[in-house]
Amino acid sequence: MDIKSLIKESAAKVEARLNELLPGEDIAPSTIHKAMRYSIFAGGKRIRPLLCLEAAKACGGSEEAALNAACALEALHTYTLIHDDLPCMDNDDLRRGRPTNHKVFGEGIAVLAGDALLTEAFAMLARVPANDRYDAGDYVAELAYRTGSLHLVGGQVLDLEGEGRELTVDELRAIHHGKTSALIIASVRLGGMAAGCTHEQLEALTEYGRCLGLAFQIIDDILDVTSTPEVLGKSIGKDAKVHKATYPALVGMDNARAEARELTAAARAALDVFSDRRRENLLAINDYLLKRDY
Ligand code: IPE
Ligand code: IPE
Ligand code: MG
Ligand code: MG
Ligand code: MG
Repeated sequence: MDIKSLIKESAAKVEARLNELLPGEDIAPSTIHKAMRYSIFAGGKRIRPLLCLEAAKACGGSEEAALNAACALEALHTYTLIHDDLPCMDNDDLRRGRPTNHKVFGEGIAVLAGDALLTEAFAMLARVPANDRYDAGDYVAELAYRTGSLHLVGGQVLDLEGEGRELTVDELRAIHHGKTSALIIASVRLGGMAAGCTHEQLEALTEYGRCLGLAFQIIDDILDVTSTPEVLGKSIGKDAKVHKATYPALVGMDNARAEARELTAAARAALDVFSDRRRENLLAINDYLLKRDY
């Protein structure tokens, strides 16, 4: 299957399951369910759930075993976007081609919609079936570890504190690792864990996620400079405006692109422990993300 069809089919499965798992808009209090659904069903590339499902398949598991975990990742990711866009954070008006959550529902409801999606993510994970190696306690601990104050939230803290400051490349890498790679690592690891993967497979997926995740955020930084709101579905030029620490700002556009390419090669190499057939889709995703234009 070509990569575009793979992405489309995987997104459709995840969206159908999310629709079943999340409370309907007519369920009281209706406002919060409307707000949660507004952001999660606004589109989005669904890269984290795709990585989760493909990691499960690479480890010999079924898509069904990992589907609730894939939904949990997208719910958690959507919470981070809603909060990231708030006036007290990046203060953005456009997300996934629509006005941001707080622009439509107000800041109070946007904060709560993020809170509720974060909470629902753990309820979804608790419903991922156990296998010989892992159970719901392991899945929950994994996501909590990667997204708490030590990683994702910690990265967002460093990102805010870095605004307007001169950072070293190591400091910038720590921000990007926390705010973006950590959830991407959790995506592939949870897919592997739901498939009952071996320790060796889990280590390989972790390294793949780390390299791909860092490349993903470098490209996000690049697109903030080079893309348009129409293509990207979010505002552009914001990072430079608030003197955000980004790769192109710190090392220049050419070096930023070179580093993304090197990380993509390293992510590819990390999958050597898998057979050609098993790693095929993860490699295709890796290549696709390097060349993405949105
Ligand atoms: C945007 O993530 C935020 C980052 C961590 C870079 P995506 O680029 O995956 O956003 P969606 O889900 O497609 O909207
Ligand atoms: C977002 O990073 C990271 C998280 C939401 C955790 P950015 O602030 O660069 O993401 P965009 O560019 O707004 O999507
Ligand atoms: Mg941000
Ligand atoms: Mg932002
Ligand atoms: Mg960005």
